[in-house]
Amino acid sequence: MSASNLHGLVAYYADVDSLLAAVRRVREAGYQRFDAHSPFPVHGIDPVMGIRPTVLPWLVLGAGLTGCAGALLMQWWTNGHDYAFLISGKPLFGLPAAIPVTFELIILLSAFMTFFGMLALNTLPLLSNPLLRTAGFGRVTADRFAISIEAADACFESHATRELLAGTGALSVEACESDESSAVVPKWIKQLTMIGAAIALIPPALIAMERYGTRTTPRIHVITDMDFQSKAKAQSASLLFEDGRAMRRPVEGTLAVGEWIEDEYRATGKVAGQLGTGFPYEIDRAVMERGRQRFDIYCGVCHGLDGLGRGPIAVRAESLEESAWVPPTNLHDERLLTVPEGHLFEVITNGVRNMPAYAAQLSVDDRWAVVAYLRALQRSRNASIEDVPTDQQRNFK
Ligand code: HEC
Repeated sequence: MSASNLHGLVAYYADVDSLLAAVRRVREAGYQRFDAHSPFPVHGIDPVMGIRPTVLPWLVLGAGLTGCAGALLMQWWTNGHDYAFLISGKPLFGLPAAIPVTFELIILLSAFMTFFGMLALNTLPLLSNPLLRTAGFGRVTADRFAISIEAADACFESHATRELLAGTGALSVEACESDESSAVVPKWIKQLTMIGAAIALIPPALIAMERYGTRTTPRIHVITDMDFQSKAKAQSASLLFEDGRAMRRPVEGTLAVGEWIEDEYRATGKVAGQLGTGFPYEIDRAVMERGRQRFDIYCGVCHGLDGLGRGPIAVRAESLEESAWVPPTNLHDERLLTVPEGHLFEVITNGVRNMPAYAAQLSVDDRWAVVAYLRALQRSRNASIEDVPTDQQRNFK
């Protein structure tokens, strides 16, 4: 064996005490690049070997503090500064709310630092070590203790070192050759890796194609949930019925319970097919209040609470400059002051031209209440002094 491919020497011992004694001797002899190996951790061996306590805890502390500061800063920046969003009047940034994320980030960074810091400080992973090739080293995981001294040590001298080790009461001293085998990754491993990587790209490529590509046939539906059900949807075709439609009309003349209103005018706003005037029942304060409330909810959005046609939807539509927009009618329009009440009732019931119907939202009596309130609204803008009770007329000039 030439000295050039000698990695070092290994000496084996039977128990902890002889190992510790040997370590002491080796260190006193001035060796730096040596190591002790044992089947279990030997307490107190670090100071004997001259190994200083690890700095890892300090690194972990640093990582934890970084996580703490980072989390607080991030939450303050996103919630309190960059996208300040007031939720139920809570403070934009509050420490109690920020604690979970802060806690998580402290743990995360600390754990990473512990794990990767340990690997880095030990210069791990080390995939191969020449010591593993020596004959007796396997027993170090069972019942042997060993000291290895590297040939690279300044004090190393093949014979002298061997004698030193033999003199420490070693059971045997073994030479360890350095690993001369090629460090180049075999070609077949490289090729297999490349083929594997190429195959691994196929599923994501297929998914991307399905996701973003266009096709004439329906997409493949892997998880259907409840998307396809054997039922007829509104407006769809069906072979079951003669007319080919899935939807059925109610049987002629049917009415839901409580839907029947005897008075034709009250129900339709018409008398013998002609629009009627007046109200089908007495209008009192409660009806008026109800009408105002319903008007503010259902009509004000377009016509405005004052009926002038400047509701928020109208204002918004104008600001968008939509060419197809038809502005809501000014309800104080001259024509609407004189139309019969039946007409107003019908407009609410069936809608008019571009205005949708509100029969689904407003019951028959609610519609009349809205008509009554609409009349009051119109009077409020076209009132004369005669409309004010006589005893209060002198309050107006
Ligand atoms: C979605 C917006 C919108 C809402 C809500 C709305 N309207 Fe209209 N209304 C319109 C528009 C638009 C017109 C004009 C339609 C046209 O000329 O094509 C109109 C017209 C009218 C007219 C005039 C009909 C005529 O004879 O020309 C009356 C009266 C009226 N609305 C009453 C109401 C009442 C009462 C309500 C509440 C139940 C209501 N509107 C809710 C948009 C709305």
